[in-house]
Amino acid sequence: MMSRLAPYRLGVLLSGRGSNFAAIQAAIEAGEIPNTQVGVVISNHAQAGGLQLATNKGIPTVALDKQAFENRMAFDAALVDILQQHHIDLVILAGYDRIISAPLLAAYERRILNIHPSLLPAYGGKGMVGLKVHQAVLAQGERESGCSVHLVTAVVDDGPVLGQSRVAITANETPESLAAKVLMQEHQLYPQVIRQYIETVLSQEGKTDSHDKALI
Ligand code: GRF
Repeated sequence: MMSRLAPYRLGVLLSGRGSNFAAIQAAIEAGEIPNTQVGVVISNHAQAGGLQLATNKGIPTVALDKQAFENRMAFDAALVDILQQHHIDLVILAGYDRIISAPLLAAYERRILNIHPSLLPAYGGKGMVGLKVHQAVLAQGERESGCSVHLVTAVVDDGPVLGQSRVAITANETPESLAAKVLMQEHQLYPQVIRQYIETVLSQEGKTDSHDKALI
């Protein structure tokens, strides 16, 4: 399916344990996302577990401390420099806890994906993170929840949804048990959507002159 010779390069941004990154890397190693490699893993937390996972795999890592930058735009401009130095085609947010600003959105327009642990547009937006999402879902008496992969735009959790996976909510569900169920689905969904995204983009190459015309 992938016609070009050079591998498609992912740049992963994460802030924590990195289980979604690990699932994506495992899918690449299993040949489930062909001709693709993770070129760099970047975190805003030097202690993020995901950085160690990347190091263990021999993948370059960078930790950026926001205190070293004047503002969000300067921080994101530095991110763009790093991503470009590593020849990154597609940016993968995998538990990244910062809002993305103009320099990164412009440099990677329609080439930034995020995963969110709800069925967007429900239970998304600023502040809807971690267990808060699942608490809100249960408080509302929902019968099902799930996760969504979407294109990142300037509005938090608002970009076009590229894929979703659903889970049933049981009678004695807790935010913690729901989070664990949804996370298992995330680990299946994110590699599948990345594969489909890359297939779509590469099938458009030659028909269009840039990656970002391919989707939506
Ligand atoms: C996931 O639940 C994801 O949906 C959200 O942040 C969490 C990251 O978990 N955006 P991990 O670091 O990939 O384990």
